[in-house]
Amino acid sequence: MPETRKRFLRSCTALSLSLSSRLCLTTVTTQYAFITHRECTHFCSLANRVIIMASTSAGTNLSTRNKTDIWLIGQPSPQLVQSKLPTIIEVLRVFFYYKNEEKKSVRDSANSTSCDVLALWTKAGIPTRIKKHVIAKIENYYKQWANLKKNKENKKKRSETLKNKEQVWKNKLLHLFDIAHTRALDMITIEEDKQFLIAQRQKDRKGQIGAVDKASL
Ligand SMILES: *[C@@H]1O[C@H](CO)[C@@H](O)[C@H](O)[C@H]1NC(C)=O
Ligand SMILES: *[C@@H]1O[C@H](CO)[C@@H](O)[C@H](O)[C@H]1NC(C)=O
Ligand SMILES: *[C@@H]1O[C@H](CO)[C@@H](O)[C@H](O)[C@H]1NC(C)=O
Repeated sequence: MPETRKRFLRSCTALSLSLSSRLCLTTVTTQYAFITHRECTHFCSLANRVIIMASTSAGTNLSTRNKTDIWLIGQPSPQLVQSKLPTIIEVLRVFFYYKNEEKKSVRDSANSTSCDVLALWTKAGIPTRIKKHVIAKIENYYKQWANLKKNKENKKKRSETLKNKEQVWKNKLLHLFDIAHTRALDMITIEEDKQFLIAQRQKDRKGQIGAVDKASL
């Protein structure tokens, strides 16, 4: 058992926590504390205090870590920003909201997320790929994330190569979650809508859905 975990369990005993409360904390290392039990919310503030104490004494500041934070993704989000076509990370935040907060399966979460995303693209007047492809695309990003996470957890010490791979993947998430129909630019008859799609594919994603001059640059 790592020394920090032992230290943590000792401090729990000192605080006379019940055994089940202590089981809420599955792993405590000098860097990570995972609070896993759903029923543990009441216990979290106490646990957080202990973790902060432990981490401060271990020279690590964890007070900014948030238990609902998802590795590489950030906070889950109940909805998409309605004014722009979403980026990959924005789509994944909604996916994780359905999966983690609403406890839906991976398939159902991807299904619900795809509806949200398709509604926005439809609002923007841009022809899309069919729903089945959108669901598959979301599930595929989730699989990539899960694989990276597994790699991370299997390694005691992450190599530079692995860290680079994570960073490259994370950077990719800032791009448009592009589900345009392959011939979308030929199919769109309104020039403004066409310019809007082109602009949303750029890094700065200029333009707004529903604005009078959507893609005015
Ligand atoms: C830890 O970080 C928080 C927020 O960034 C800061 O307010 C606090 O002073 C830091 N504590 C230590 C011990 O560095
Ligand atoms: C975690 O972040 C969410 C969203 O930013 C916030 O509502 C919540 O209060 C935060 N929790 C803690 C313990 O900081
Ligand atoms: C997505 O959800 C709808 C209704 O909730 C359901 O009819 C459909 O079969 C689902 N599709 C997939 C691929 O799971």
